[in-house]
Amino acid sequence: MRWTERQRAMLREMGIPPFWPVEEPAAQAPSPVAAAAAAVVSTTMASSPEPAGPRRIATVVDEAILQATRESLPATAGASRPPPRATTSPSPANSAGAKPIEVTLGPRPAGIETMDWPALREAVAGCQACGLCQSRTQPVFGVGNEHAQWMLVGEAPGEQEDKQGRPFVGRAGQLLDRMLAAVDLTRAEDEASRQVFIANVLKCRPPANRNPQPQEVAQCEPYLLRQVALVQPKVIVAMGRFAVQSLLKSTEAIGRLRGRVHDLAGVPLIVTYHPAYLLRNPADKALAWEDLCLAREVMRRQA
Ligand code: URA
Repeated sequence: MRWTERQRAMLREMGIPPFWPVEEPAAQAPSPVAAAAAAVVSTTMASSPEPAGPRRIATVVDEAILQATRESLPATAGASRPPPRATTSPSPANSAGAKPIEVTLGPRPAGIETMDWPALREAVAGCQACGLCQSRTQPVFGVGNEHAQWMLVGEAPGEQEDKQGRPFVGRAGQLLDRMLAAVDLTRAEDEASRQVFIANVLKCRPPANRNPQPQEVAQCEPYLLRQVALVQPKVIVAMGRFAVQSLLKSTEAIGRLRGRVHDLAGVPLIVTYHPAYLLRNPADKALAWEDLCLAREVMRRQA
């Protein structure tokens, strides 16, 4: 859909700041990993005698993505990665010629709930608590003022974030920066009152940007909760369903949860759409703007 002048005028009337771009995202070719994974999925499904139910498809897709990701890593990449410690037995999905999938599971560091910032950073940097540590380039801890009044929580690092070690650096991040600027906030060096802290539910990139798995969220959650406890924000903005599910333990749709003030251990929490969703659904920027205004109002009431 292209935005007409009339629609743009409507957006302006709705109070959407002009600097939130409303253009369609450019169509993107699939990444080499996604293309390789898609090829493995179609070969596996075509040669499998099992019925293609949703669970089976999900398993095949996950394993194909893992396999394609591993194969895309340079030969030397394993040198700095934790060694694999457990190998799953070949499942029906990978018995059709694919290599067995190696899954590393290690203990999560103890005492996360009492860590200070340096200890928490170190724990995240060396975490091997789920299989994502095998395919990540580096964990993405979070950025911003460690005592910010606003804390924003996203889903998980994508390709660029994994490479650069910083959250929200791709197109969704550019939109997020504009959204923040619209309410006079920034993640950059600035007056403390204008700075935010940004973190994700998962600290490591899921291969080919697939959805976080429940066990990955469960393993990573203590890091996010400790970040919240250390930042002590006056307001939290949970962006997208994975942030909402993790922080509010609710599977309700964003549309039903947004527009009111929730509570996370005494901290007001506002639910809104993920910037990546807004890139695909620009009309909902009007709703995201309302959500930011609500968060700002919550902040003002505490001043
Ligand atoms: N999407 C997220 O949720 N987090 C990032 O860091 C980047 C994109």
